[in-house]
Amino acid sequence: MKTFYIETFGCQMNAHDSEKVIGTLLSEGYSQVQQWEQADLILYNTCSIRDKAEQKVFHRLDQFKKNSQGKVFGVLGCVAQQEGAKIFERAPHVSLVAGSASYAKLPSMLVQLETGDRRVTGLDFDAAEAFETPYTRRDNPHRAYITIIEGCDKACAYCVVPFTRGPERSRTSQSILNEAAELARMGYSEIQLLGQNVNSYRDPSPAGLDFALLLRAVGEVDGIKRVRFTTSHPRDFIKDIVDAIDENPALCNHVHLPVQSGSDAILDRMQRLYSRDTYLRRIEWMKKARRPIAISTDIIVGFPGETEHDFQQTLSLLDAVEYDSIFGFKYSKRPNTAALALEDHVPEEEKVRRLAIVQEKQRAIQIRRHAELVGSVEETMAEGYNQATGQWIGRTSQNRTLNFVHARVPQPQAGETLAGTYLDVRVTRSGPNSLAGEAVAGI
Ligand code: 5AD
Ligand code: SF4
Repeated sequence: MKTFYIETFGCQMNAHDSEKVIGTLLSEGYSQVQQWEQADLILYNTCSIRDKAEQKVFHRLDQFKKNSQGKVFGVLGCVAQQEGAKIFERAPHVSLVAGSASYAKLPSMLVQLETGDRRVTGLDFDAAEAFETPYTRRDNPHRAYITIIEGCDKACAYCVVPFTRGPERSRTSQSILNEAAELARMGYSEIQLLGQNVNSYRDPSPAGLDFALLLRAVGEVDGIKRVRFTTSHPRDFIKDIVDAIDENPALCNHVHLPVQSGSDAILDRMQRLYSRDTYLRRIEWMKKARRPIAISTDIIVGFPGETEHDFQQTLSLLDAVEYDSIFGFKYSKRPNTAALALEDHVPEEEKVRRLAIVQEKQRAIQIRRHAELVGSVEETMAEGYNQATGQWIGRTSQNRTLNFVHARVPQPQAGETLAGTYLDVRVTRSGPNSLAGEAVAGI
């Protein structure tokens, strides 16, 4: 029996790629082990979105090296795509380097490795198609991820993704809907649609659905109670998506709409293809919706040329939108990207200062907004139980963490767990990052 071990970094796309890789390996007769020392094949699925990702990968590969006798090492994902065959030079114990666009060829790459080939690569985008496999080994028993579109055709000046994940490829709506229906039959009640830019989804089959139509169709699959999607690009975000959410309660009322900056000058330098005003118009659609739609975003501080005035514009945007949550990042230089050629790079200490100010402002917004939710009742999916706090861990449609106590099932009991069930929970306390409450009596 051949064994493998896999370690995964990065976004949900990467995590889900690993689920597909694991499923494929299991179907090829491999079995998974939890310690790399016990594995014949060691795979490292990497991310290169920020910071010194490449160095971290080589550092980890060095650690593997000390016990590498008789083992096969593979580097997958974004660093593999970015560094390519150079990885063989710096880490000679590695014999597989493959980016996400070539995972469909994994079975044949495995055969090459098994026959002793020491330099197997999967780095082309030429015939890149979406990686569809019937063999996905899913980690979460209730929420399942479905890739609808891979790659990215935008050219944001800071972003490495178009280079690491290649051009956009959408799956057919039929294969997505079949997968959703199959997942519902298997007992999954929540589906998360994934893509670097889900809004530019275009059904390649004659049905020709756009993203909003696909979303409506997935929302109607029997047995699916919640549908989420990530990530949206503001340029391609259309009003029909908001209307779809309004019309179908199975579509979660949460949208992640990365803005990156509140300054038009910086948005322009970033090549984001929208202005502050167009972005705010999309926010307006959501604020006017019938259902309360939670909105989250990504912010980059310290992009080259960002002045104090530009930065203040980002802060004023946070006040204008009052996001439900944000992810803030310091700009970091990435290989191949257009921003490398820009001048006026912001000093590291200044980026640290700006990020702290952004986080502080957002924290105050969240404390205030969460406090307003005390007393309300939210439909919550129980995800598990936290022994340390004695609470069930829950998530609302708006993607908030709402931990709660339950009078009849105070903790998991023999044969009874709340995980995977949907309950009404009354919010009794609030903090900056989560809510706490009690399940409404009678359930
Ligand atoms: N530096 C900092 N943040 C980045 N992101 C992407 N590239 C960079 C970079 N070079 C952030 C963006 C994106 C999120 C996934 O990561 O905010 O939306
Ligand atoms: Fe990281 Fe981007 Fe690759 Fe995801 S797509 S793993 S965020 S570099």
